[in-house]
Amino acid sequence: MNFIEWTAEMSVGSGVLDGHHQMIIDCLNGLHPLLETDAPEDKVLAVMSKLEDFVLVHFSEEEQEMKRAGYPDWRAHKELHDRMYDVVFSLKSDIEKGEKVDARRLFELIQDWLVTHILGEDRKYVPYLTDPAAKPVGQWKRSNGRDC
Ligand SMILES: [Fe+2]
Ligand SMILES: [Fe+2]
Repeated sequence: MNFIEWTAEMSVGSGVLDGHHQMIIDCLNGLHPLLETDAPEDKVLAVMSKLEDFVLVHFSEEEQEMKRAGYPDWRAHKELHDRMYDVVFSLKSDIEKGEKVDARRLFELIQDWLVTHILGEDRKYVPYLTDPAAKPVGQWKRSNGRDC
């Protein structure tokens, strides 16, 4: 059984972004048993590298989508992404340096990413992605004082 299960309530109304979230969840599900069983460092590192790649690609594409859709709070959202990436990068660096991974930090990452981020922050842009009437581009340009 997976540590985290994808559910329809996690959908953000974009097949591509939902697919990214599922890939990230798969990665976290792959990482969890490795940490639980104290697996060799190279195995953990391989999954962490994959996770880092997925996260980078996803954040970048999600930020583009938010801008394109006219989501006014994309800058604040990007800051959350940057902080999340720092956590992933720092965990990966710890492993590379031969430090033992703190499983609690991983759980915090999962919790933060899934509960707070996908179900909370990511879902805030859903109306802009799915309802063209809710995203007049001029409105977010004005609210940000610039166009990107
Ligand atoms: Fe996000
Ligand atoms: Fe996301």
